[in-house]
Amino acid sequence: MNGVDLLAGATAPAAVGVVGGGRMGVGIAHAFLLAGARVQILERDDRAAAHAEQALASAVRQSVTRGTTERGEAELLADSAVTIDITALADANLVVEAVPEDLALKTDMLQRIEAVLAPSAWLTSNTSSLSITLLAAPLRRPERFLGLHFFNPVPSSTLVEIVQGERTSEAAVDAARNWVHMIGKNPIVVQDFPGFASSRLGVVIALEAIRMLEDGVATAADIDTAMVQGYKFPVGPLRLTDMVGLDVRLGIAEYLHGTLGERFAPPPLLIEMVAAGKLGRKSGEGFFSWPD
Ligand SMILES: NC(=O)c1ccc[n+]([C@@H]2O[C@H](COP(=O)([O-])OP(=O)(O)OC[C@H]3O[C@@H](n4cnc5c(N)ncnc54)[C@H](O)[C@@H]3O)[C@@H](O)[C@H]2O)c1
Repeated sequence: MNGVDLLAGATAPAAVGVVGGGRMGVGIAHAFLLAGARVQILERDDRAAAHAEQALASAVRQSVTRGTTERGEAELLADSAVTIDITALADANLVVEAVPEDLALKTDMLQRIEAVLAPSAWLTSNTSSLSITLLAAPLRRPERFLGLHFFNPVPSSTLVEIVQGERTSEAAVDAARNWVHMIGKNPIVVQDFPGFASSRLGVVIALEAIRMLEDGVATAADIDTAMVQGYKFPVGPLRLTDMVGLDVRLGIAEYLHGTLGERFAPPPLLIEMVAAGKLGRKSGEGFFSWPD
């Protein structure tokens, strides 16, 4: 792979493309930028591009203020760009796709990205739940494609799941371990089962917590406290669902219900709350209130 040495044993891709400059895409771009890569974010239109640019600039500013990087704001921003032109990704060594969790959209985007990349480039998806093998099916180089599942918020989340599809090469998995180390995070390698390791377990706990709330077992705060104080969870399952987004969790539950069976059936309360626009932190209300 074409790149520069940044950490012992880890080779950084010199140029990283991130497709979709939303919550996850900006966080991922920021992580690679701080690790020394040049970063291009691809957005769908000018408005979304301007938003992504602002969000990245703000994340960079915070890192400089907090002293998490020795480089200056202007220097870092000079190594980044937001574009709506897919051909700007042509010289990327690594692309991370982070568009919304929609199979048709991701399948289309991945094929279009692959078409502009060099044969030596690596292609990855930040999907939370979709099958890497399925996403790889129409690709010309499925051996160079894998899941690179980051967590929200990216800067403070140390885990990255590397998801190996049926046709992902061992070389791709080895390269991915290096990228994850290079950005200061810890990789786990997971085979391509629905929900991987994290979502499958995390969502089943959240769904049960919601059913407990429906049953009137305890208040949302007390159900969360049971897990935080009784089981040493850093955040309770209902608060975490608010942070992730009830709509995001519902989407994953529906997918896991279809693939893994009845135990992932979304509880009626979750469906009702999403329909009522109670999406958690981003809408100001979920299982808890989020005034800011
Ligand atoms: N939010 C989370 O907690 C979380 C955690 C891990 C993984 N993920 C996964 O990351 C992915 C992105 O999630 P998100 O929360 O960042 O979503 P988001 O809605 O915040 O961002 C998606 C971005 O993609 C852009 N986009 C849409 N269509 C596009 C196109 N054709 N070309 C370029 N850009 C396009 C949108 O404008 C938007 O900015 C999803 O697959 C999601 O499942 C999300």
